[in-house]
Amino acid sequence: MRVRAGSARPRSKVPAVQNAVFLVGFMGAGKTSVGRALGERLNWHFEDLDDRIERREGRSVPEIFRECGEQEFRRMESAALRDVLSESRGGARIVALGGGAFVHHQNAAFLSASGVPTVFLDATADELWERCSKQALDSGANRPLLGSPDQFRNLYDTRREGYAKASVTVLTGNRSVETIAAEIEKKLGLRRISIRVEQGEVE
Ligand code: S3P
Repeated sequence: MRVRAGSARPRSKVPAVQNAVFLVGFMGAGKTSVGRALGERLNWHFEDLDDRIERREGRSVPEIFRECGEQEFRRMESAALRDVLSESRGGARIVALGGGAFVHHQNAAFLSASGVPTVFLDATADELWERCSKQALDSGANRPLLGSPDQFRNLYDTRREGYAKASVTVLTGNRSVETIAAEIEKKLGLRRISIRVEQGEVE
């Protein structure tokens, strides 16, 4: 196709790597449930970065926060992210990051340098608070940084700009997990695979 001088299309923010997707966004954005649904649609491997940290540490994220503090958790989170990005074996994968991972500049820089697409699952602070409170009641989900409604909103406000740097943004308010997964698939032009290469963490 010829492009006339002066009519160049705006450059897409979607990176070229087509066998990995990283889901980012605030607590309660649905990164894990959407990631699982997208994994099933595409037959891609799904992984939650917090699960990797918990497996490695042999304790839960709330325990890590309690026993070592947030700074140490962030160090573990960065190390786990670097490891995921450096694992070249295996097939296509979707990775859900914890709510604070992408807003740390070094992590965003690793992701950007590796050329993988990042998807920001967006929602209002009110919706996110409602979802997190419901999850806490229904399943006892214990999020160390949940705080009060005001603390939650302040944290959301300071982070939102960082999430918006993701390759694409998908709105999640009042939409089903399936609809959101289908939109990501379409926006990134992802392809279902027929045979999945099982992936495991290299210890
Ligand atoms: C965090 C979010 C949590 C978890 C940790 C810190 C954050 O993950 O990584 O408690 O800083 O927002 P979810 O976003 O899956 O709740």
